[in-house]
Amino acid sequence: MISVALPKGRLGEEVYALLADAGYSCDEILDKKTRKLVFENKEHTVRYFQVKPTDVAVYVERGAADVGIAGKDILMEYSPDVYELLDLGIGKCRMCIAGFAEFTDNTDRPLRVATKFPHIARSYYEEIGRDIDIIKLHGSIELAPILKLSDVICDIVETGSTLRENNLVVREEVAKISARFIANKVSFRFANEEILKMKNALENRRVI
Ligand code: PRP
Repeated sequence: MISVALPKGRLGEEVYALLADAGYSCDEILDKKTRKLVFENKEHTVRYFQVKPTDVAVYVERGAADVGIAGKDILMEYSPDVYELLDLGIGKCRMCIAGFAEFTDNTDRPLRVATKFPHIARSYYEEIGRDIDIIKLHGSIELAPILKLSDVICDIVETGSTLRENNLVVREEVAKISARFIANKVSFRFANEEILKMKNALENRRVI
């Protein structure tokens, strides 16, 4: 039995569709009304856990799940001790620095950066040698420059509509993001064949 930490939401649905197509179906998971969090198909030797996207790497790193699907943003932010086996080519977006088009940086003082990703923001600005003041938020990051809480934001941009509708623009691109298939290091040793079988099945069905 291989256990899979599946992110809740649209990304999880897309990944499940690939897995189901690859022979790991467990259709109870498609029932939108269920509040169940564990789904098992003994015949296909698979067990799914539905978890918050930001928690997938925690379950996999600690071995509560053998494998999982996590965004590259989460892997960059938390650097979990897991194997990153495959880029699934879905859930594509960009980690960007955004702000008002007319904003000019005053290097006499630290740049105020609002973000859900303090580690990513810190590493990015460390590399270019710019002092920053991190303002950690948990959502609606775009509000920060509007209310002058921050100068810029470091956040995910997918379609760009949240920025556009709030009169903000991308100023710099930090990284390209997509969903990754990850594995627990111990499971990878002891359930190597099963994990590689799942990886290959995903690889054959992904659209890059
Ligand atoms: C994410 C991200 C941006 C938005 C980008 O927020 O933080 O706000 O999506 O998507 P877009 O480029 O397609 O507009 P999310 O929806 O996760 O909500 P949040 O504000 O609660 O973080």
